[in-house]
Amino acid sequence: MRKAGKALAKIVCSLRSSLKIGLTTFDINCLAEDLINKKGAVAAFKGYRGYPAAICTSFNEEVVHGIPSQRKIKEGDILSIDVGLIVDGWFSDMAFSVGFGELDDSHKKLLEVTERSLYQGIQQMACGNYLSDIGFAIQSYVEPFGFSVVRDFVGHGIGRALHEDPEVPNFGLPRSGPILKEGMVFAVEPMVNKGAARTRILDDHWTVVTYDGQPSAHFEHTVAITSQGPEILTQV
Ligand code: MF3
Ligand code: CO
Repeated sequence: MRKAGKALAKIVCSLRSSLKIGLTTFDINCLAEDLINKKGAVAAFKGYRGYPAAICTSFNEEVVHGIPSQRKIKEGDILSIDVGLIVDGWFSDMAFSVGFGELDDSHKKLLEVTERSLYQGIQQMACGNYLSDIGFAIQSYVEPFGFSVVRDFVGHGIGRALHEDPEVPNFGLPRSGPILKEGMVFAVEPMVNKGAARTRILDDHWTVVTYDGQPSAHFEHTVAITSQGPEILTQV
């Protein structure tokens, strides 16, 4: 899983540096698929429950699972990109959000708080802590900023499959559920809305959007629990 994580982190890094206003999300998908194939890895999302692309690209009020299209990145957009791959049968999953051109101060804050909340959750991933300590840390960090944590979608165990037990919520009370043990690997992925937490799914059956149309951000890492504490696998 270290190998898969490293490969994914490098791909996301080079993807990030190629992003610019005017690119379509289809262009970005092609680029990602190319990078994945060149590494001898397999795109994990393509064909997953019929999902049609290698990555998810979600603009502004789109929370997650947006399908790449001919839509172009423009000034003021927030774009969330989610990438998953398989190396030697092991899965890795990672996502980030980024703003383009002049952004509203509140939108900049949303990006910053969502990314920081991911690290707040990861910090809880020590042997002996409880699964729910992760979500509690994320929610407690996010809500004082006036933002809300999405409830309808959660993080997950990951390993030989993209989605394994347990679910890893980004909200909840501390000190309940399973106790964290060495060797567990989770995809932690807070989705944070500027407005209310409620979401709905578009007619394409994939794209998740905020119910109130306000923007959303999403950051994700694949993280292992070791005796030394959390190890972020999707890191270069
Ligand atoms: N990180 C997302 C998740 O765990 C990616 C899944 S996209 C899908 O749900 F297309 F594969 F569904
Ligand atoms: Co995931």
